[in-house]
Amino acid sequence: NKDIYILGIETSCDETAASIVKNGREIISNVVASQIESHKRFGGVVPEIASRHHVEQITIVIEEALSRANMEPHQLDAVAVTEGPGLVGALLIGVNAAKAFAFAHGLPLVGVHHIAGHIYANRLEQEMEFPLLALVISGGHTELIYMEEHGSFEVIGETRDDAAGEAYDKVARTLNLPYPGGPHIDRLAHQSDGAIDFPRVWLEEGSYDFSFSGLKSSVLNYMHNAKQRGEAVPPEHVAAGFQNSVVEVVTAKALRAAEQYKVNQVIAAGGVAANKGLRTSLSAAFEKKGIPFFIPSLPLCTDNAAMIAAAGTVMFENGITGNMAMNGRPGMAL
Ligand code: KG4
Ligand code: ZN
Repeated sequence: NKDIYILGIETSCDETAASIVKNGREIISNVVASQIESHKRFGGVVPEIASRHHVEQITIVIEEALSRANMEPHQLDAVAVTEGPGLVGALLIGVNAAKAFAFAHGLPLVGVHHIAGHIYANRLEQEMEFPLLALVISGGHTELIYMEEHGSFEVIGETRDDAAGEAYDKVARTLNLPYPGGPHIDRLAHQSDGAIDFPRVWLEEGSYDFSFSGLKSSVLNYMHNAKQRGEAVPPEHVAAGFQNSVVEVVTAKALRAAEQYKVNQVIAAGGVAANKGLRTSLSAAFEKKGIPFFIPSLPLCTDNAAMIAAAGTVMFENGITGNMAMNGRPGMAL
């Protein structure tokens, strides 16, 4: 069996990334150009700015991925790119770069769903065992996905409003913490000697869906009322209270889903999976039930192109390839 080398390209949000992955499991090179500094002063990702950065960076990043791998384009087997979901202007830059590269070098083109990428990030560090449950939790997504086998994705729960990371970033903003706020809230929560009691949002009995906008509003209301009364609120108590609510609900729903679907493995991915409180809580809960649980290392949790190449490899092996009509699909379904 011949080895398969795939170039992955990711530009769906604020990371311009390219990577070469061998056999869907081994990272040969992994280049990520982050734009966080440019978006920071706006407190969030500005789509126009994101597109402009992607245009400036994409060719450099692809060339860097090839040179770090010490490879020539003709040694590749295919190009995999994030086709959706994401910011339309941002996706288009990656898709067009991938099409141009594939056309120029006569390579097949594979269109990857961003969430499939986050899930397959795990395969770069650990073999996937089916059936499995994936918790994808990031700035744009909060989803519980059941996988019977490679390439089969059943979304069993998702957020009905804000993504968890979005709620983290908004709460951080009201605490005057820099963007992205997740890591800052996480740090404050760990330093805190107390926590405000915010509501847990469970939704209907048995539902695996999430809702974070109500929690976010209760934090905002709490801050507003305290200010009106002239009370000083320790920000770490707010951070800890907010984080406790998120962690408790996410852990409980993931655990219940894993048991109901009788999975052999649970994996987590996405930027919020970097959260210390959540990692600790999930690990403890699954260990107690004897269900194998895995979270990839930090650089593979956040947006990167190695995960796109990894997911793209499985599609390529199954003959699922795209063509020159490929377009960015901002609302692409899994
Ligand atoms: O996966 P990611 O890099 O980008 C996408 O949204 O696809 O996730 C970014 C999100 C941001 O909302 C950021 O605040 C959050 O992940 N995040 C965290 C932590 N580190 C990053 N949230 C909570 N705790 C953290 N330690
Ligand atoms: Zn992502």
